[in-house]
Amino acid sequence: MNWPKKNVLVTGGASFIGSHLVDALVKRQAKVRVVDNLSSGKIKNIDGHLKSGKVKFIKADLKESKAAKEAVKGIDIVFHLAADHGGRGYVDLHQAACASNLMLDGLIFDACRQQRIEKVVYASSGCVYPNYLQTNPKKILYLTEKMVGPPYEADNMYGWAKLMAEMTLKAYYKDYGMKSASCRYFTVYGERGVENHAVIAMIARAFIKQDPFFVWGTGKQIRNWTYVGDIVEGTILAAEKISDATAINLGTRERTSVISAVKEVLRYTGHKARIILQPSMPTGPYNRVADNALAKKLLGWEPQMKFMDGLHRTIDWYFSVKDSKQVKMILKRMLTER
Ligand SMILES: NC(=O)c1ccc[n+]([C@@H]2O[C@H](COP(=O)([O-])OP(=O)(O)OC[C@H]3O[C@@H](n4cnc5c(N)ncnc54)[C@H](O)[C@@H]3O)[C@@H](O)[C@H]2O)c1
Repeated sequence: MNWPKKNVLVTGGASFIGSHLVDALVKRQAKVRVVDNLSSGKIKNIDGHLKSGKVKFIKADLKESKAAKEAVKGIDIVFHLAADHGGRGYVDLHQAACASNLMLDGLIFDACRQQRIEKVVYASSGCVYPNYLQTNPKKILYLTEKMVGPPYEADNMYGWAKLMAEMTLKAYYKDYGMKSASCRYFTVYGERGVENHAVIAMIARAFIKQDPFFVWGTGKQIRNWTYVGDIVEGTILAAEKISDATAINLGTRERTSVISAVKEVLRYTGHKARIILQPSMPTGPYNRVADNALAKKLLGWEPQMKFMDGLHRTIDWYFSVKDSKQVKMILKRMLTER
C-alpha cells in the first residue's frame, strides 16, 4: 500500500494500542487523523505527533451519528479501534457499557459505507471465541478462526459486540462490496498499557510493593499475551492484504500461565511477597491461546517478541515512568474500571 498517499483515520487512536498504531502509520508517512473522546485514551500517548503536526486530532464521541460521519470524511483507510473496553474486571462487570459498542461500530461502519471508504480494519478480540471451548487449562488448545461458529458463546457483551461487528463487516462486504478485515487481538501488553489488564496489573502490584500480592483466579489460567508492536504490524498488514472481511487471529502461540507470569514479575523486580490467589475475582476463560497459521498464510505475519523479552521490556518501561503514590491511588479503581 502506498501509505504516503493515504488519508488514514484511527478511531480510538489515543489509546494504548491505537497510539502505537499511529506511531507506525506516521513512520510510513501516512496522513493520520485520530478521533477519540478520551474516555480511556490519553492525549499524552500521541502528544509528540500533535506537536510535530504529523497527526490531526479531533475530540468527539463517535456514538453520535454526526461525529461518525465527520470522522470518516475524506479518509481512504479506517482503523476502527474506538470501543468501550477495559480489562477482565471491566468486561465482566460492565455489560451495558460494553453493549454500547454495538451502536458505535454500527455508526462507524455505516458512515464508511456511505463515504465509500477504501478499506476498514476492525479491532476485534479473542473474546469472540466460545467460552465453552476454553475451560480446561491442561488441554493444549489453539483457537483457530473457524471455531467461531454455532453454537456461538462469546465472552460477555463485550465479546458479543465484537462478534456482531465482524458479522456486520462480512454482510457489508457481501451486500455492498465494502472492503474490510477484522483482527482478533489476544491480550495485548507493552509500553503505555494500563493497569486494568493482567500484565500491567501484575507489574503495578510489584511496583507499589504489594504484600500480600493478590492474583485473580487460581493462577492456572493460560493466556497468550501478545506484544503491542506485533499487534500493530499485523493490523497494518491486514489493511494491505485482506479485503473480504476475513477475521484473523493476531496472537502468539506461547502458552503462559498467570502464576508463572506473576513469578517472573516478582523475580525480575526483586519484590518478595506472599502470593494470595483470589478465585472469586473476575478471571475469564481458563485456556485462551490463539492459533496463528491463518495470519501467517494471509499476511506473512508472525509475532516477533518472545513473552519473557516483552515482559521485561514492559516492566522496565513501567518502572521508569510511573510514580508509586499515584499508582497506589488509582490501582484498586483501575482493576475494574477504565
Ligand atoms: N488491550 C487488549 O488486550 C485488547 C484485546 C482485544 C481487543 N482490543 C481492542 O483494541 C482496541 C484498543 O484497545 P486498547 O486496549 O488500546 O485501549 P482502550 O480500550 O482504551 O481503547 C479504546 C479507545 O477508544 C476511545 N473511545 C471509547 N469510546 C469512544 C467513543 N464513543 N468515541 C470516540 N472514542 C472512543 C477511548 O478513549 C480509547 O482511546 C479496542 O477496540 C479494544 O476493544 C484490545
